[in-house]
Amino acid sequence: MTIWQDLLDKAQSVQNRQIAELFEKENRAAGFSRESGPFLFDFSKTNIDAETLDLLVKLVEEKEVAARAEAMFSGAKINETEGRAVLHTALRNLDTDVFVDGENVMPEVRATYARMVDFARDVREGKFTGQGGAITDVVNIGIGGSDLGPAMATLALAPYHDGPRCHFVSNVDGAHIHDTLADLDPETTLVIVASKTFTTIETMTNAETAKRWMAAKVADPAQQFAALSTSAEKTAAFGIDASRVFGFADWVGGRYSMWGPIGLSLMIAIGPEDFADFLKGAAVMDAHFRAAPYAENLPVLLALVGIWHNQFCDYATRAVLPYDQRLARLPAYLQQLEMESNGKRVSMDGKDLPYDSGPVVWGEPGTNGQHAFYQLIHQGTRVIPCEFMVAAEGHEPDLAHQHLLLVANCLAQSEALMRGRSLDEATAIMRKKGLDGAELDRQARHRVFPGSRPSTTLLYPKLTPEVFGGIVALYEHRVFVEGVILGINSFDQWGVELGKELALALAPVLSGEDSGEGKDGSTRQLVARIHALRG
Ligand code: F6P
Repeated sequence: MTIWQDLLDKAQSVQNRQIAELFEKENRAAGFSRESGPFLFDFSKTNIDAETLDLLVKLVEEKEVAARAEAMFSGAKINETEGRAVLHTALRNLDTDVFVDGENVMPEVRATYARMVDFARDVREGKFTGQGGAITDVVNIGIGGSDLGPAMATLALAPYHDGPRCHFVSNVDGAHIHDTLADLDPETTLVIVASKTFTTIETMTNAETAKRWMAAKVADPAQQFAALSTSAEKTAAFGIDASRVFGFADWVGGRYSMWGPIGLSLMIAIGPEDFADFLKGAAVMDAHFRAAPYAENLPVLLALVGIWHNQFCDYATRAVLPYDQRLARLPAYLQQLEMESNGKRVSMDGKDLPYDSGPVVWGEPGTNGQHAFYQLIHQGTRVIPCEFMVAAEGHEPDLAHQHLLLVANCLAQSEALMRGRSLDEATAIMRKKGLDGAELDRQARHRVFPGSRPSTTLLYPKLTPEVFGGIVALYEHRVFVEGVILGINSFDQWGVELGKELALALAPVLSGEDSGEGKDGSTRQLVARIHALRG
């Protein structure tokens, strides 16, 4: 615990230091930035100094992150509470053999990938058709990892989208599927049911609804369904022909699954070539993560910044702020990735964690967030570390002036968060506006920014499939490193089970088949009021 204690002491000793002071030393920016491939990761606007970085790197060494990563990449069963390997990386490193329980898992991965490519091509080229002709629309029905990844990626890579339109339905709220299907033609729609388990209530309910919608116009609706799942038995029971079932093994976690079959909708949208580039970008990040020394390693450094802020500085939340409208779903994706992975209260061996688990992750694209919640980030009483990301160049050459404004805003925010505005500066500004006396003092105080608010910036040339794949893999490995440091299992999600069980038990209470006896007073009151309101 000594490195841990040293870091706690260090955090306390620098808590009142202005980050801007660190720039008085030469080379602050270059010394606290790292490059890899298309990425520049700048963490110089944090309160991490050379001594802190040194201690943080020692912490990763102590936790043997590299050995743990190698165990993951090579198929060891590091998801100990479920007895599973963790091999999403195998889905994007198709040329490397990986063995689980002595068996090479790659021939099957490659075969499924080849079938996905064929099917995506057939759909895109009109060889696979609906009853009414070429497929115009694809509806991916899934939730959590079976939705967030492909939905985020399809938006992120919109400039590469030249296949049929893609839609994503996740919520069990009937409004979601109703509004999505309302404008579609069942005769030219392909429905992809994406569910690792093929038991998730939201997905299966929406899939049945889609089947009924299609059956009203299409003689054999199952012909226009495909499935992405680990359960061949359940997809067959649903009536989907094995030729349109794309399977994967239990060693692909839901929130890590878009690199394989769960990415089918994305592959249909952007085409197999661009999808391959997306995988390549992630594979390049995998190679960097495995090879680069800790102090040069982007995922490790991103994790260390996160751990520093969360565990040592006690900043409970983290804002992810992409200055990239097409990354609008990234914060939601990262919420699942980080909070489902590292939101645990016991360590791998079942003991209570002696420190906090992962932080609350949230965010919105800039510049929209600036006109909503940045007020609190700049002047609220809590410190919220911000993670900015931005492309040097947009995809719209004729709108380059807008991109310039976007980038200027991104850089200005990190500058403002760090610099702040002192009382003297605020007073001078207000004096120039003609105020004096008590009113000057009062007004100036409202215009003070404490500054020294930490942020990092991830800069990349342009949001291409390769860059995007790299960004997601960077965050995946960051979450992994944080999990190893915290000593938790990042690959199970028992915390979502209780609510699921209780919802199943409540459905008959709401429909009136069950009296709800034994439920707490609040739940019974709410059920009674719902019954009364429905009449
Ligand atoms: O919410 C829990 C969870 O298991 C997620 O981890 C997963 O991504 C999601 O449900 C969907 O599961 P499935 O793909 O099995 O339908």
